[in-house]
Amino acid sequence: MKICLVIGTRPEIIKMSPIVRECQRKNIDFFVLHTNQHYSYNMDKVFFDDLELPHAKYNLRAGSGTHAKQTGRMLVRMDDILSSEKPDIVIVQGDTNTVLAGALAASKQNLKVGHLEAGLRSFDRQMPEEINRTMADHLSDYLFAPTKVSRQNLLNEGIDKNKIFVTGNTVVDATLKHLKLAEKRSSVLDDLRLDKKKYILTTVHRPENVDNKKMFSEIMTGLDTVAEKFGIEVIYPIHPRSRKMLRKFGLKDKTNNIRFIDPVGYFDFLILEQNAKLIMTDSGGLQEEACILKVPCVTLRENTERPESIGFGANVLAGMEKENIVKSAKTMMNKKIRWRNPFGDGKSGRKVINIIQKEFKS
Ligand code: UD1
Ligand code: UDP
Repeated sequence: MKICLVIGTRPEIIKMSPIVRECQRKNIDFFVLHTNQHYSYNMDKVFFDDLELPHAKYNLRAGSGTHAKQTGRMLVRMDDILSSEKPDIVIVQGDTNTVLAGALAASKQNLKVGHLEAGLRSFDRQMPEEINRTMADHLSDYLFAPTKVSRQNLLNEGIDKNKIFVTGNTVVDATLKHLKLAEKRSSVLDDLRLDKKKYILTTVHRPENVDNKKMFSEIMTGLDTVAEKFGIEVIYPIHPRSRKMLRKFGLKDKTNNIRFIDPVGYFDFLILEQNAKLIMTDSGGLQEEACILKVPCVTLRENTERPESIGFGANVLAGMEKENIVKSAKTMMNKKIRWRNPFGDGKSGRKVINIIQKEFKS
């Protein structure tokens, strides 16, 4: 059996790492195909280094540009590789353009497709991710749903129940495996002169939030007010997309209480998350990690494809308006932490590979 693992962005590198490890542990023939959708050092290589991942066998250098151009470049460049490698299965993770291209290129060649993090739905078609994940699910032969909620979403869309496997999310494997290592290796709190539980960690990068001046400005004002009103520092490792828009819209000077830093590596980020008083974010991965690490979360969106942590009281939807952002921050900073993690037991990678091995009887 030969497996192709497709990755392209920061979260995919992190969440695919447990699958890579499991393939290595079991001596499975696999190769990594990296679209390089993310390419800056601190969005890409730092994660290969921190996670000690093998180099990608193929690098498509298909980052940036419009959705169509980016996805199109990936599709064309994957075509030759997949037809010469002929893997038995192509595995994609999540909801990026890389995922759509990987699932489409593979299924057009009649190769089997496995989708990690299948069945998440925000029910908001304005989000590029909703289109990508829905398409990938319907192209896939093996749908690895993290929870029963995501399984039900797939069943509601008429997907055959025999194709769906509830395996948990590999984000739990990655978080639990690397936290101890991060505690040993990271000096980020000292480097940034931060005291444990005395700061808020924020990330905002969704196009619907940062590409629109009014929206981005409202969110930044909300976060700035939280910092000022509650006398707590807000630290923001800023995604390159958001950095670009912050400059373009001239918002930096209006946010005196927010500390912007460059994106950080995985170990430093886990430590920043674990020791934050509160996480305020529009990231999917951060909503999961906050819940796993028992840090309350405020989601700066109107909806989420990860409703599980909201049901457990670990997360609230604040929307993007200043007043709600401030109100939600206050509520969640005082939250009693007594939820359990609904995203799995940290053995998802193992479960996924066991299922695939059984199917292909390698
Ligand atoms: C992508 C995913 C999003 C995911 C996010 C993770 C899609 C549609 N979006 O969004 O679902 O949450 O990754 O972070 O696939 N840039 C750099 N260096 C990089 C990468 C990006 O400077 O390494 C800048 C470029 O100006 C680029 C812009 O960020 O044009 C947007 O990058 P892109 O990969 O298109 O989307 P993301 O916003 O990163
Ligand atoms: N992350 C990181 N450094 C940062 C910001 C995020 O290592 O400066 C990690 C974080 O731990 C999580 C993932 O990147 O695992 C989330 O990526 P992102 O928010 O970009 O994407 P999303 O999850 O929204 O698709």
